[in-house]
Amino acid sequence: MSNAASKTFTLTDNQSGESFDLPVFDGSVGPSVIDVRRLYGDTGHFTYDPGFTSTGSCDSAITFIDGDEGILLHRGYAIDDLAERADFLEVAYLLLNGELPTAAQKATFDHDVTYHTMLHEQLSNFYRGFRRDAHPMAIMCGVVGALSAFYHDSLDIYDPHQRMVASFRLVAKMPTIAAMAYKYSIGQPFNYPQNDLSYAENFLHMMFSVPSETYVMNPVLSKAMDRIFILHADHEQNASTSTVRLAGSSGANPFACIAAGIASLWGPAHGGANEAVLNMLTEIGHKDRIAEYIKKARDKDDPFRLFGFGHRVYKNYDPRAKVMQETCHEVLAELGVEDPLLDLAMELEKLALEDEYFVSRKLYPNVDFYSGIILKAMGFPVSMFTVLFAVARTVGWVAQWKEMIEDPGQKIGRPRQLYTGPDARPYIPIDQR
Ligand code: ACO
Repeated sequence: MSNAASKTFTLTDNQSGESFDLPVFDGSVGPSVIDVRRLYGDTGHFTYDPGFTSTGSCDSAITFIDGDEGILLHRGYAIDDLAERADFLEVAYLLLNGELPTAAQKATFDHDVTYHTMLHEQLSNFYRGFRRDAHPMAIMCGVVGALSAFYHDSLDIYDPHQRMVASFRLVAKMPTIAAMAYKYSIGQPFNYPQNDLSYAENFLHMMFSVPSETYVMNPVLSKAMDRIFILHADHEQNASTSTVRLAGSSGANPFACIAAGIASLWGPAHGGANEAVLNMLTEIGHKDRIAEYIKKARDKDDPFRLFGFGHRVYKNYDPRAKVMQETCHEVLAELGVEDPLLDLAMELEKLALEDEYFVSRKLYPNVDFYSGIILKAMGFPVSMFTVLFAVARTVGWVAQWKEMIEDPGQKIGRPRQLYTGPDARPYIPIDQR
């Protein structure tokens, strides 16, 4: 932490009457933090915050979220501005380097990412070890983790050049790995990347082209794909990013750390939500049944939650959801698709936003509420939705991992606990139990 404490926060032990001054640090914007690093040494107590609802785990200059106002900034630039005016690799450069690139920097960056898109040929053998019906996220966890077995020349995390090469490799190879997971599942041959295509175009080509036909790129769809990548590129210290940081804090190599992030993203409370939204909309099936599902979501004895609704940080409309809804209309219009699920989703959103339960808890649609409808219209199977999220989020994970490794004050992540198990007790031999 570079800045000095702006003030102190005094904590008083009501029993002993002793007071402790804790330093308070201000960020550039957003809430300040109370520095509790010396708390245990000074007071003998830990803080207790399961789910980290009030805990800052690091300092970071990458992404800022104001959840009450519904604001998301990357390096100071608003997400809707970036989604409207930049392309994904420009945003990737911004996240990794801190500034928007000049035209020359952008050209070099695009070239460097593009020329790392191929996989070591031996890696394709890896796929053949999986069952054809394996979930592509399972394949992603395995193959991305396995990259560390193939790229030994970029595993030294203390060498800035190797860190950079590993970052390029991860951002560049993720679309190839993802598309291969899909092709494997449907029994089609793998497509090699084409270096004259943009990042989003290349992904669509590797996903949907077949050797026997010419693939015609639809610019509306490639723009939508690019925008979906931008909208998912980073989101500060969410579960998967914190997982990447925690894994990386022990000095693990970047490929292993990103594989850990993919595992964390998979869950339906996080990146798996877009898949869960579509399954939920399909299950609801008709507008007449929305009220029944809203009732289920309100019922504390029912584990059902309205997927795509609510967010740990946003207590307002997720700014990404607005862009996603616009993109959804554009894609469906381009494809001439009339998806009843879109009407159902819009009606569900309207009714939930009028419902006291959702209003009082400030539960709004999140980024995943509309993304599934777009992806389905574009021809992605539901099981690939979270994979696309992982492709896009890789640059955020890598930027956060790099920032952590480059922080001179970085320590291994090691939370403590409130122990509630038995105190020390003697071992009882099995014949006496
Ligand atoms: N449906 C019904 N009730 C909900 C929902 C929901 N989707 N989300 C939150 N609530 C309720 C909770 O039951 C809780 O009610 P209570 O105060 O009466 O106990 C209250 O709203 C607060 O919710 P928490 O679970 O405490 O909020 P938390 O920050 O822990 O959870 C989460 C956030 C996991 C995203 C949650 O809103 C959720 O499960 N949403 C559905 C899954 C989803 O869409 N995830 C995607 C998140 S975005 C992303 O990862 C890209």
